[in-house]
Amino acid sequence: MKIAVVGKGGSGKTTTSAVLARTFARRGRSTLALDCDSNPNLGISLGLGEDVTEELVAVRQAVDAGERDHATSLEDLVTHFGVDGPDGVRLAVVSAIDNPEPGCPCCGISPEQLLGTIAGPDLIVVADFEAGLGTVMRLGGQPVDIVVVVVEPTAKSLEVGRRAAELVRESRLGRLVVSANRVRDAADEERVRSAFPDAEIHFVPEDLAIVDAERRGEAPLDASGPAPAVEALVRLAEGLVPSAVTA
Ligand SMILES: Nc1ncnc2c1ncn2[C@@H]1O[C@H](COP(=O)(O)OP(=O)(O)OP(=O)(O)O)[C@@H](O)[C@H]1O
Ligand SMILES: [Mg+2]
Repeated sequence: MKIAVVGKGGSGKTTTSAVLARTFARRGRSTLALDCDSNPNLGISLGLGEDVTEELVAVRQAVDAGERDHATSLEDLVTHFGVDGPDGVRLAVVSAIDNPEPGCPCCGISPEQLLGTIAGPDLIVVADFEAGLGTVMRLGGQPVDIVVVVVEPTAKSLEVGRRAAELVRESRLGRLVVSANRVRDAADEERVRSAFPDAEIHFVPEDLAIVDAERRGEAPLDASGPAPAVEALVRLAEGLVPSAVTA
């Protein structure tokens, strides 16, 4: 099962990816979270902390700078650039490398191609992609199971989301799910509904608990006290992979 998380910059892709991945892992599913962003910070949202996240990023940068060995295979890549996180989720940083060696399993292919090649019978892969439409175009021709388009109820975010959704449909990339993030009221919900009249839409409220967790460098899922956005994202996970969360 492969889930690609896409959308405009700052829409909430990393927050969404982290809660989805940990929810699947919590329910006992083997889960790989792929940080495909050139500014990788999924580790922080997963709850690995700033130090571990920075170490992982440094490994990837060292390969880019020719200071460290490349991974020798796709399996090795998840070991080489990865770490085990809370709830048993595995995180690997696979952001694009500036000067890839052609044919190299760890850097000669884009994160989008990489997602196409990773497989495992019971594995759930959640890929937190770079902002914008480029990633959706690069996914073309190698379908995933689900594309989650994260949007905020703003004109710019909805426009990027609408074009992303069009590409997902045109290229038959997978099941399209729109996650409307930071929704404040019925007017916000209506804005999203009219931008995506035929889509499966999931609403996630604006939530200070997410902002507070971010300030502390912690995972939204580890927030103490009620966190309506986290609850909504857990329900999104249930809707995406029902068998993973009822087990
Ligand atoms: N539901 C929410 N309520 C309040 N704040 C939120 C919510 N979701 C995300 N945020 C905040 O919005 C900011 C952007 O979120 P996030 O990093 O997940 O977005 P992103 O799409 O991954 O951004 P980028 O394009 O930079 O990778 C963060 O500060 C995060 O804490
Ligand atoms: Mg992000």
